[in-house]
Amino acid sequence: MSSHHAYANLIDDRPQDGVFRINRRIYNDPAVLEAEYERIFERTWLFLCHDSQIPNLGDFIATWMGRQPVIVVRNGDGEIGCFINSCGHRGALLVTRRTGNVSTFDCPYHGFCFDTKGKCVSARNRQSGWKDDFDIARFNLRGVAKVASYRGFVFGSLTEDVADLETFLAGTARLIDLFVEPAPAELEIVPGFCTYISNCNWKLMHENGPDAYHAPVVHRNFAETIANREARDGLQGMAKTERGRLTARIESGSYEVGNGHTIFWHERIDPSVYPIYEHREELSKRFWPAQLEWIIGRGRHITVFPNLLLNDLASSHLRTYRPLGVNRMETTIWCIAPKGEPPAERAARLRKFEDFFLPSGMSTPDDIALCEEAHIASFGKHAGWFELTRGDAFRSDGPDDAAKAIGMEPLASTTSWDHELTLQGVYRQWRRMMQAGG
Ligand code: FES
Ligand SMILES: [Fe+2]
Repeated sequence: MSSHHAYANLIDDRPQDGVFRINRRIYNDPAVLEAEYERIFERTWLFLCHDSQIPNLGDFIATWMGRQPVIVVRNGDGEIGCFINSCGHRGALLVTRRTGNVSTFDCPYHGFCFDTKGKCVSARNRQSGWKDDFDIARFNLRGVAKVASYRGFVFGSLTEDVADLETFLAGTARLIDLFVEPAPAELEIVPGFCTYISNCNWKLMHENGPDAYHAPVVHRNFAETIANREARDGLQGMAKTERGRLTARIESGSYEVGNGHTIFWHERIDPSVYPIYEHREELSKRFWPAQLEWIIGRGRHITVFPNLLLNDLASSHLRTYRPLGVNRMETTIWCIAPKGEPPAERAARLRKFEDFFLPSGMSTPDDIALCEEAHIASFGKHAGWFELTRGDAFRSDGPDDAAKAIGMEPLASTTSWDHELTLQGVYRQWRRMMQAGG
């Protein structure tokens, strides 16, 4: 498959006929992945890291933009820069550790050195290899086209041709505000992370995040185990895990926000088990009641297409991911929390993070298994298409009342978190970008 029209044909979007279908070839055709690298990952903003991961001058984190290795660094002026992680001399991987602090990046191959702005400051044994007037600036590192930060979340783009970051984030920016503003200080990534590999196409996992429909089925083991544990141990207060979202009928909603990003929320049946509840009095002085309802009374979940997930459900969780091949992907997760959080609140947050989101916990292994099995099933050609239409009858254009309360302007709203409206938005954006051609 080579033409961009061929990729567009993998999404059958006919709202007038009530049809929204995806061809499963999008998961298993190597040509699709090759085009995704070029047309999606190399042409839009990608999440890189959180500010708090590189607080000091010279702090760096090595990560990926699609298939390209990059270094994100806080340079000598305190600004955040991003370079392709490839030495300016003969292209060795310059940084082989995941994080660290440097005054210069020293290449492990022939020993060239680069400052934190990417400038080549030393070519080893220069005098015995080049003339005196030879300019080593030709070895400088290649910076990525754009780096920008929204409220501590750092993004980069490999092309100049992107909207400003806040415009790109669309309605998800309002939800990021709701993560950041209630905290007494800034947010921080809680030390530690987990990286795991899944044997499935990256889009299956990307879909799994905004898909609340699966939760009561796939995570019933989690809900039942929590219920048994809490009955036995007599846990109280924040130590308890609210499982009503998985076992009861609750108020909820979801939005198509544009640019392939997704948002859903759900009512918290027992808000008192979340750390933020301890701060309700102080928060009530800073926020309107409708905003407080979002902050204290609702679990919130966003994805930013194509590589960020941020949520406050069982715990607060940040996730990024990248394809490794058409049938393999890597996910990295962190717990994100207010800086200086009291120990009891931090402990409650972390225990629930481990329970639900870690691959050694009680939920993520089930999600991984489901996604890996869906990948296997994607080869079943006689069942080549699947539908994403759940909730179409409950869709309304523009914001609902909940969205209006926080100044969010989605393209469309629905009345439940388990509708598939959000996923339609993901694949409309996928098609738009794949159609843009190469
Ligand atoms: S490849 Fe880095 S110094 Fe030669
Ligand atoms: Fe899940």
